[in-house]
Amino acid sequence: MSNSQVVSPVQIAEADLLAQLDADLLPRHVAIIMDGNGRWAALRGLPRIEGHRQGLTALRDVLDICHEVGIPHVTIYAFSHENWNRPAAEVSMLMRLLDEYLKHERQSFMERGIRFFPIGRLEKLPHAVRTLVQEVAEETQHFTEHVLTVALSYGGRAEIIDAVKGLVKDIQLGIVGEGQINEDLFEGYLTTHGLPDPDLLIRTSGETRISNFLPWQIAYTELYFTKTLWPDFRRQETLAALLDYQSRERRFGRVSHTGSPQNGL
Ligand code: IPE
Ligand code: IPE
Ligand code: MG
Repeated sequence: MSNSQVVSPVQIAEADLLAQLDADLLPRHVAIIMDGNGRWAALRGLPRIEGHRQGLTALRDVLDICHEVGIPHVTIYAFSHENWNRPAAEVSMLMRLLDEYLKHERQSFMERGIRFFPIGRLEKLPHAVRTLVQEVAEETQHFTEHVLTVALSYGGRAEIIDAVKGLVKDIQLGIVGEGQINEDLFEGYLTTHGLPDPDLLIRTSGETRISNFLPWQIAYTELYFTKTLWPDFRRQETLAALLDYQSRERRFGRVSHTGSPQNGL
């Protein structure tokens, strides 16, 4: 038997999970808080940057499997507004990794028809990285079927404040009347306008908080928290999260579809 024919236990486990997945019940939009890189490195006696580096490998795996199963929207929390408060050396390493990642993935986004869509206070990024981010965003902006939204220097409350400012300006200019203000109109002022709200939010590393990520957009999102550290979160872990999502009943405030006694009332 040649090497290429050997099927590993990992592949068998993955195939088994894939077989359980219901293609009709996939989330349209998965948002991910990629957390735990530093702890992954510390557990191995490595510098934090090695955790971030390994985190990029995990990201490639997760995006691949999401693409393969047919999830059109993935949004990742890559760098928060609050992350600027980390030591300068870590921040500059993270910026360098972002630069390397984009240079490496640029071609693949084009070949696979993936829109790279950055959100956040991009003006705070170092000039060279910002230029690259904008170039990759522009050259992929015509792709609509697969969108990778990347939150960079992002804070959800700042996004809401910016949206309020935009709305107030349009009211003052007479473009919008106060009576027209509703949730749909407001959504149009957010950086994520046009994207569906996330159906599923994954956070790794055992933390069970939102850390200022998409607070408006996740109002009705299913939350999935796992203790797995981000660098260890790979294809199988993604499939497990998707299966968990598929086991849930999204009620949106309505009563259960599945046989609660009140249904007969
Ligand atoms: C997430 O991992 C990556 C970023 C926030 C950029 P962390 O760096 O937060 O890792 P921990 O939480 O310290 O383990
Ligand atoms: C959230 O992780 C931000 C990103 C994953 C980019 P943090 O590690 O910065 O969040 P806190 O500080 O634990 O809330
Ligand atoms: Mg963290």
